[in-house]
Amino acid sequence: MQKRDIEKAVNILRSGGLVAIPTETVYGLGADARNISAVQKIFIAKQRPSDHPLIVHLADISQLAEWAIDVSSEAMLLAKAFWPGPLTLILKKAAHAHDLVTGGQQTIGLRIPDHPVALAVLKEYGGGIAAPSANRFGRISPTTAAAVRDELGDAVDLILEGGQCNVGVESTIVDVSGEKPAILRPGVITAKHIETVLGYPVLTHKENAPRVSGSLESHYAPQTKTRLMSTAELNAFLKNKESKVAIVIWSDLDVHDNLSVVMSTDPYHYAHDLYQVMRDLDKQGLNQIIFEKVPETVEWDAVRDRLQRASHA
Ligand code: TXA
Ligand code: MG
Repeated sequence: MQKRDIEKAVNILRSGGLVAIPTETVYGLGADARNISAVQKIFIAKQRPSDHPLIVHLADISQLAEWAIDVSSEAMLLAKAFWPGPLTLILKKAAHAHDLVTGGQQTIGLRIPDHPVALAVLKEYGGGIAAPSANRFGRISPTTAAAVRDELGDAVDLILEGGQCNVGVESTIVDVSGEKPAILRPGVITAKHIETVLGYPVLTHKENAPRVSGSLESHYAPQTKTRLMSTAELNAFLKNKESKVAIVIWSDLDVHDNLSVVMSTDPYHYAHDLYQVMRDLDKQGLNQIIFEKVPETVEWDAVRDRLQRASHA
């Protein structure tokens, strides 16, 4: 990444434009978090309902106090353990944080991403950058610059190239604004990792997440009809498999046709590849995409969550 690309990005942000920024999770669609007309452009570009809050990205932990109040010792522990990294903390918002950023709530989502390009822009810019995933509302998050171009095209002033995202699925969201920390969206930082740092179990109830757009049941979805099947169901299905159906497996199930994709048995590698595989299959004019269900263990929480949403009718 050239220094002049970073400068260009910062200039666009300062003048109220939109910049697509690579992070370690997925690409974000960034705007100056204090400039409301800039933030409005995000909602227009994404066709996102305006009551869905955005995550504000920061360069450094010292900026927490600019955006959040009453930051608990648990929140600080998590921030210090995982930032920069794929964790978003929901905290009580500072008074100036605009309703459009917070979805009208009294809380705000904050995160320091772990990507050299994102960090370079954030450092040079100095302020908070509001950035949802750089896809149209309800669609698959982009994990490459080319995918951002596919999703948003001219609606964005600049797309920074940052290669394929290392993590590949969105950050873990932990609400630390209430009595007890709660996971609102699973990611590669699992409940186990959080518990190890906190020293006690973390809630994972979805009911705690009224406004997390990621918690709408149908989200992150290909346009092609997508289904989930257990290994046994798949075995039966394969006996009479129709044409134009792609099967995405991770086990050693015996499927041999050129539409099928064999994913990694490692949940982190699987997550890394997932959205690109969905995106590629979605372009092929298929009748169906069928994913083999993944294990029920905590390491697979993020992948299982995205597969459930993608296959929700
Ligand atoms: O990994 C990520 O988090 C990526 C990269 C770009 O940082 N961003 C991302 O943003 O996934 P988005 O907008 O697609 O998803 C953010 C989620 C939404 O589901 C939103 O509702 C939730 O965070 N969120 C943001 N602020 C919140 C708040 N104050 N309370 C509850 N949920 C919040
Ligand atoms: Mg999103």
